Amino acid sequence: MAALRILVSLLVGLCAYYFYTRETFSEEMVRGKRVLVTGSSMGIGEQIAYEFARMGAHVMVTARSEKRLQEVVQKCLSLGSASARYVLADMHNLTAAQKLAEEARSQLGGLDYLVLNHAGGDVRFGPFEGDMESVTSSMTVNFLSYAQLTVAAMDMLRESQGGIVVVSSLSGRIPSPFSVPYAATKFALEGFYSSLRAELHLRKIPVDVTVAVLGYINTDTALKVVGGKITMQASPKETCAQEIVKGGVMRRREVVYPYWPLKPILLLKDWVPELLEWLLRRSYLVENIL
Ligand SMILES: NC(=O)c1ccc[n+]([C@@H]2O[C@H](COP(=O)([O-])OP(=O)(O)OC[C@H]3O[C@@H](n4cnc5c(N)ncnc54)[C@H](OP(=O)(O)O)[C@@H]3O)[C@@H](O)[C@H]2O)c1
Repeated sequence: MAALRILVSLLVGLCAYYFYTRETFSEEMVRGKRVLVTGSSMGIGEQIAYEFARMGAHVMVTARSEKRLQEVVQKCLSLGSASARYVLADMHNLTAAQKLAEEARSQLGGLDYLVLNHAGGDVRFGPFEGDMESVTSSMTVNFLSYAQLTVAAMDMLRESQGGIVVVSSLSGRIPSPFSVPYAATKFALEGFYSSLRAELHLRKIPVDVTVAVLGYINTDTALKVVGGKITMQASPKETCAQEIVKGGVMRRREVVYPYWPLKPILLLKDWVPELLEWLLRRSYLVENIL
């Protein structure tokens, strides 16, 4: 009985300490920060740019569609960004990724947040039939360009004691049939950035890494690619972007969105992978995919 009382007191004490010392998020933490958001011509990246803009950051957006980027810049300015600009860059090309970081240095004078969000390569949702071109192009756009941008921006992030935010997916944590090349790129991101985070910490380099693990989000691309093929409900991209920005600014290791549908899946993965795979098989409408 005495042991139970001690245990409960300890738990209460720990909870109180956790909530008392926990820093709370405020928009002031973002004002004037210099942010580069990749893949921000539409979808989640566009919403992330608006979140930073609304809180008064200097925002640089990038993708391949110039007209869309011009519209995003205009909207960032109207939302209150300290400044907004765009750079055209195709992440199939690693030299373009390197140059993008140089543009951030010359146009923003440095970088506080590098938000890696773009996704391209092969975005089909269907059987993998040995198309190696799809594997290499997905790896280049969704993984190698992330690594290249990180390497090129690291000096700036060290100077500002900044943060890297990596937009990943549940597909980077659990098996994902019908999106084999895409899932491979997300698993690669998880390995690269969790190892990098640990190494930066050991080397006392003050750059934080936040990985966002996302479920099904209602962007035009996702609705077009997987709509009618899985039974899951899509979550709103606006709330998703808010959670990612908050998590990045608070320097959390991880953002899981939507939290409650995803967290049990992540726990089951380690405890009972067979049960998880059995449950997941039920969420694929295979007759609409093959
Ligand atoms: N939506 C979901 O359900 C979901 C779920 C889990 C994870 N995620 C992750 O969330 C992130 C955003 O997804 P989303 O649904 O918002 O995607 P999206 O709407 O298709 O947007 C993708 C962005 O990447 C850019 N992009 C594509 N290929 C590019 C290339 N070669 N070079 C430069 N930019 C390129 C696109 O712009 P341009 O075409 O103009 O270049 C666009 O701005 C991705 O990392 C994705 O894996 C999404």
